[in-house]
Amino acid sequence: MQISPSILSADFANLESELGAIANADWAHVDVMDAHFVPNLTLGLPIVESLLKVSPIPIDCHLMIEDPDRWAPPYAEAGAQSVTFHIEAASDPVTLARDIRAQGARASMGIKPGTPFGPYEDLLPELDMVLVMTVEPGFGGQSFMADQMPKVQQVREAVKRHGGDIWVQVDGGVSARTIEQCAEAGADVFVAGSAVYGAESAAAAVDELRELARGHRH
Ligand code: DX5
Ligand code: ZN
Repeated sequence: MQISPSILSADFANLESELGAIANADWAHVDVMDAHFVPNLTLGLPIVESLLKVSPIPIDCHLMIEDPDRWAPPYAEAGAQSVTFHIEAASDPVTLARDIRAQGARASMGIKPGTPFGPYEDLLPELDMVLVMTVEPGFGGQSFMADQMPKVQQVREAVKRHGGDIWVQVDGGVSARTIEQCAEAGADVFVAGSAVYGAESAAAAVDELRELARGHRH
């Protein structure tokens, strides 16, 4: 049960100290948006390179960008320990996942709420994680979509059948109120932005979320 706070809700003028505030988390989730795949623009490779130099924990890059086939592998090459591309944007996901792994990172496939998982189940041998979005990607602070829980269950079942160490991540609206149903459905990596950085103590929020997830293990 791993917690990956999203720095999208952190203070962008003080990212080093904001990373320090979640040093008890398992990952730091970094949302890269290009204003094309999603209607928002955040940060790109140069900033991720700088974050990698100062982060006390590994970085989980969530790339909400067009043409990940071209732009995703450099994040792995820079040292991001996990790189998620969106299946809706990838043209050759097998080659892309292999490129990411060849750079030593975990390869992950993200799926938007409206995208079914079934057609992509065959990709599991190429993947280390599947990210099931529980909001429409683009912004922090949106409401959790409970209707994505059957998809989380479906991914977890497929992972069980397939075997291997493939993680199931949820991202969007995850909080103390919603994390238990995610864990029960089979998620084991939990992204939380506003629930962590909006809390009085980010570190305490991380610990609380992890405890809640552990108590509702699938
Ligand atoms: C949304 C991003 C999320 C976002 C989550 O597109 O992928 O990582 O930061 O924020 P919360 O936890 O506030 O929904
Ligand atoms: Zn994200």
